[in-house]
Amino acid sequence: MKGIILAGGNGTRLYPMTRAVNKQLLHIYDKPMIYYPLSTLMLAGIREILIISSREAQKSFQTLLGNGDHLGLTISYAEQEHPNGIAEAFIIGEQFIGIDPCALILGDNVFHGHGLSKLLTKSAQLKSGACIFTNWVADPERYGVASFDSKGNVIDLTEKPHKTLSNWAVVGVYFFDNNVSSIAKGLSPSARGELEILDVIQYYLNNKTLKVEKLGRGYSWLDTGTPQSLLQAATFVQTLQQRQGLSVCCPEEVALSKGFIDLARFKKLAEDAAASDYGKLLSHIALEFDTLTSN
Ligand code: DAU
Repeated sequence: MKGIILAGGNGTRLYPMTRAVNKQLLHIYDKPMIYYPLSTLMLAGIREILIISSREAQKSFQTLLGNGDHLGLTISYAEQEHPNGIAEAFIIGEQFIGIDPCALILGDNVFHGHGLSKLLTKSAQLKSGACIFTNWVADPERYGVASFDSKGNVIDLTEKPHKTLSNWAVVGVYFFDNNVSSIAKGLSPSARGELEILDVIQYYLNNKTLKVEKLGRGYSWLDTGTPQSLLQAATFVQTLQQRQGLSVCCPEEVALSKGFIDLARFKKLAEDAAASDYGKLLSHIALEFDTLTSN
């Protein structure tokens, strides 16, 4: 399974913070926003990753993540000229996807929770059809929303509904089979002028090949689209990390735990960042890992 991080957009809801800086390069507490979706794809076991952004932002992402070798990944980059819609990712990424199924994660989505790795790894085994997740939210009008019948089957998908149809928001990580690029190519722009991700999902729903999982209370899905939600996400990460001494969505740690890199390489990454709290957390993780594996 290949993985795409869609990290473009104008970030207008975060102006002026995003006038000169791509939204996904803003930080959530101690690390750049893109580390969070990157870690999520890695938790799913995905190692071949395409980052799609504007051309200007591409250089910064390359400076930050390079070709991904230090994390045991292969990272490549592609440009989205204008934010023409989330589904355009599959058209831009068609060659990258090749003959494989593909996961897509939105660059501003943060996931955390017990069992997430297991759930994502299972989803990444998908060979045909599509798999999406929903999460209960208080403000469904801000998201794509799924409505269910009494048997729990999806009966409707609506992007940013004006009136509450359901509180089950469709979260920004999706798993699709290899048909996804041709489906995206067959779409027309919506009334707001975008190639809509929900139209891709609708296609699978019509074909009865859509699997929808509800994320329960054990999972946290955070949005970072407004100054308030960005601050809330940062506070969430800070609280967990300081209380537990564990890192939230640290790609280096995921790379180590998944066996993408060995401990020696991890220690080198920790050394490189030694002057920062992030580096200290990496050193702490290295120590823990050493103790765990030597027992
Ligand atoms: O966060 C989950 C929601 O994300 C879903 O519930 C919705 O169905 C989905 O449409 C999306 O809604 P948003 O309003 O949050 O989408 P937004 O336009 O903010 O874009 C999400 C991310 O994708 C953001 O980091 C920017 C990036 N993006 C978006 C578009 C439309 C691009 O890179 N290119 C694009 O063309």
